[in-house]
Amino acid sequence: MNATISIDTQREGTPIDRMIFGQFLEHFHRQIYGGVFDPGHPLADARGLRTDVIAALRELRVPIVRWPGGCFASAYHWKDGVGGRTAVYDKAWNVEEPNTFGTDEFVAFCRAIGAEPYICTNAGTGTEEEASDWVEYCNQTKGQWAAKRRANGHERPHDVKYWSVGNENYGPYEIMTKKAADWPAFVLESGKMMLRADPGIKLLAAALPDLDWTLPLLRQAGWMLAYISIHNYWDGLWFNNAPSDYLTCMTRTGQPGEMIRTAENLIQLTGLAGKVAIAFDEWNLRGWHHPCKGNHIFGDVEARDANDINATYTMADAVFSGCFLNACIRHAGTVKMACMAPMVNCRGPLFVHPGGVVRRTTFHVMKMYSDLLAGQAIDCWSASDPLTHAGVTVPSLDAVATSDAARKQVTLALVNKHPSEPLEVRLRLDGREGASAGAGVCLAGDSPDAYNDVATPDRAQPAPAEGVFRQGLATLPPHSITICTVDVK
Ligand code: AHR
Repeated sequence: MNATISIDTQREGTPIDRMIFGQFLEHFHRQIYGGVFDPGHPLADARGLRTDVIAALRELRVPIVRWPGGCFASAYHWKDGVGGRTAVYDKAWNVEEPNTFGTDEFVAFCRAIGAEPYICTNAGTGTEEEASDWVEYCNQTKGQWAAKRRANGHERPHDVKYWSVGNENYGPYEIMTKKAADWPAFVLESGKMMLRADPGIKLLAAALPDLDWTLPLLRQAGWMLAYISIHNYWDGLWFNNAPSDYLTCMTRTGQPGEMIRTAENLIQLTGLAGKVAIAFDEWNLRGWHHPCKGNHIFGDVEARDANDINATYTMADAVFSGCFLNACIRHAGTVKMACMAPMVNCRGPLFVHPGGVVRRTTFHVMKMYSDLLAGQAIDCWSASDPLTHAGVTVPSLDAVATSDAARKQVTLALVNKHPSEPLEVRLRLDGREGASAGAGVCLAGDSPDAYNDVATPDRAQPAPAEGVFRQGLATLPPHSITICTVDVK
C-alpha cells in the first residue's frame, strides 16, 4: 500500500483551538456516580472525587468538560442539585437521580482536572429564566442566586464561561422536543437573559447540519451565538449492542468531515462565517446502548452495563478517533470545540472500576493529539491507495500537518486505516523530498481488534517511533496512528 503527502509550510496556517480535545460528562449509568464521584470509596477525596480518576484525566490535559447532558439535561432542574439536595426521578434515563453531584461539585471537578466547565441548560422542561438563574448562581455577585451560592460555601463566582441552550432539542426522543419554528425564539429569550446575567459568557445552541432546523436558528439568533452545537455517533448501538467490525467502522471515517462541511455551509449562507464556530460537543464512534429510548421496556437499565464491556473499544475506535480529530484540524477555522462523549465509563476513553482505571485505546489517541501537535494547521495534501469494504471506498491514509509560527518543524498526525497492510508514505515538504523525522510516537496494538482491559491494561499503548521518515519515506504499521516531527530545511 502506498501514499504520498505534500506539505506547504509557506502559506498561512490556521490556529487549532485546543478546545477540540474536550470531553463530555452526563448523568448516565456510571459516569458520575461510581465514575468520577464516589464518596466513601477509598480513593475518593473529601469532596467525593476519585483521585485516581482525576490523576488520569489530568494526563489528557482536558481543556473543557460539557455537563450535565445530553438528554439528561432536558429534564434536569439545577436547583435540585445545590444546597439541600432533592432526589428525583430521572425522566431521561428511568433511574433515581440523587442530585448529590450538582453544579458546585461539577465546577470543583473541572478545576481539579484543569478544565473549563461548560454547562448545557434544560431547554426541555426548563424555562428560559431557569437558565439565566443558573448563570446568576455561577457568575453573578448580586441577587438571590449569587447569595445562594455564597450560602452554599462559594464566596467567589464559579466563572463558568461556556453555556449551551439545550441539547438535541430537535430529537423526538428528547424530553419536550421543540419545533424548528419555535426554537429560535426559545434560544433568543434564554440567551438574552443569560447574557444580561453575564455578558462575558460564550453562548451555544443545539443545532444540526440541517437546513430546516439550523437556518432559522442562525438567521434569528445567530448574532448572539459563539458556536452551534452539533453531535454524532457513527456506530449507532442504542437498541442493539452489536458493535460494527473494524472494516465497517473504517468505511465511516469520512463522515465527520462531511457533517462539518454541511454545518460550515449553513454558517456561510447566513453571513456568520468567522463569527459563529462549530462545537462538535458530543462525538464518538460508538453510540451508547440504552434501549429505553422512545420505548421504555423492562430491563433496559441493566442493558446499559453492556457499554462497559472493554472488548468493544478496539483499535477501530482509536483509528476512527484519529480520523475525527484530523477532520476537526482540517476545518480548524470553524471547528473550535469538540467533546468526546462521554469522558469516563460507557463509551469513554477511561474505564473506571472499583480497583482503579483502564486507559482504553481512545485515551491514548486523545493524549497523543493533545500533547504532541503544534498550534497551527498547515496545508497538507495526501493521496493513498484505496481501502474498500462492502462497496464503500475510503483512502487508506488520513494525514494532517501542524506547525508553529516559526515553521522550523512540522508535526504530522498520520493514520493508516488498513487492517493488515503497512503503508509506504512518501513525503514532499515544500516541493522537496528526503526529509527525516525526529521523535515520533505510534499507537498500533497487536491486532485491529486489540483492546485494553482490567487484566491487560497495556495491551495497546503508544510506543516511541524514532526516525519515522528516513530520506522522505516512512512505513506506517497497519491500524495505526503516528505522530511525528520533521525539520523544515
Ligand atoms: O446516547 C447518549 C445520548 O446521545 C446523549 O444523552 C444525547 O445527547 C445523544 O443523543
